[in-house]
Amino acid sequence: MNVHGKPTRTIWAVDDGVEIIDQTALPHAFVVRKLRSVEDAVRAIGTMQVRGAPLIGATAAYGMWLAVRADPSNGGVTAAHEALLATRPTAVNLRWALDTVAARLAPLPPAARVAAARAAGDEIADEDVAMNRAIGQHTLALFRAAAARRTGQPLQILTHCNAGWLATVDHGTALAGVYAAHDAGLAVHVWVDETRPRNQGAALTAWELGQHGVPHTVIVDNAGGHLMQRGRVDLAIVGTDRTTASGDVVNKIGTYLKALAARDNAIPFYVAAPSPSIDWSITGAADVIPIEERDGEEVATVVGATASGEGARVRVAAPGSPVANPGFDVTPARLVTGIVTERGVALATREGLAQLFPERVPPTGR
Ligand code: MRU
Repeated sequence: MNVHGKPTRTIWAVDDGVEIIDQTALPHAFVVRKLRSVEDAVRAIGTMQVRGAPLIGATAAYGMWLAVRADPSNGGVTAAHEALLATRPTAVNLRWALDTVAARLAPLPPAARVAAARAAGDEIADEDVAMNRAIGQHTLALFRAAAARRTGQPLQILTHCNAGWLATVDHGTALAGVYAAHDAGLAVHVWVDETRPRNQGAALTAWELGQHGVPHTVIVDNAGGHLMQRGRVDLAIVGTDRTTASGDVVNKIGTYLKALAARDNAIPFYVAAPSPSIDWSITGAADVIPIEERDGEEVATVVGATASGEGARVRVAAPGSPVANPGFDVTPARLVTGIVTERGVALATREGLAQLFPERVPPTGR
């Protein structure tokens, strides 16, 4: 998508490393950093310089390339796989990308691994872009149908966290359809949940929509239910860090509450999920999925910039009060209207997903 009018991805390989947009500097500064080692990749994911399930996966894949440049032995591959896997526990794209690269390297002699890892990283990045572009087109069809009922008014879309191009290599998942609609001349307006505690909505979603010229309004997380009651939201669409084979959706904390409010107000609630975000191994309850528990400082304080542009962290919680900071929640499949994948829109059921991805369902489970 465009930054200052120039097409830009969130991650790209160069001869001597991997360049990323440092998302901890946004929206106040646009900073590109170079990762030169697997340690740099581990740090970039862990500190959330890169974040969002698909981008975490792509960064991990390139991290394997950086690792084998230094040590292409079996031991080097295993150590890199373990270090990268330990960075963030919830997004399943991380494991998927690491397993994909590791499987590609395993049969090769060490001397052939550097080129193969680089090619695997490039492929994973390019596939992510293609999947998201397809998700955008399927979502656009949903938006067109919803807009036909709006009689000329912009379609009012609510989203949570950042599932835009910054969360992926390009296009985004939940926002891919927003960009496709805007580019096709379909009038849309996006309600952007700020998404405490890290404010990925206010800082990242609002920034990227603004860069692309998409009308949007930032709201506090608690405003969504009210706007839905007043008829000011036509549909909600969010991304996912991990969706089970039966359609339960793990996404940024607060997603579940939006799905409940949407159901109470008969508003469609869609989830955009590229297939690497689907955990086909989980066919039962989603409570086996690890939910990242993050540093309480994210809740007790807020990070921003002063009027002069200086970065600042200020305390909002009463000093000494204990805080809890679960990063994700589970939205049960029954609250999800549909899951938009690169192959089309599935019902949020085992059968619905299996219909689009028959090759992913174990024979015994059908
Ligand atoms: O903690 P984050 O910022 O990595 O969480 C991101 C989200 O929850 C996104 O909604 C999710 O990764 C889907 S991204 C396309």
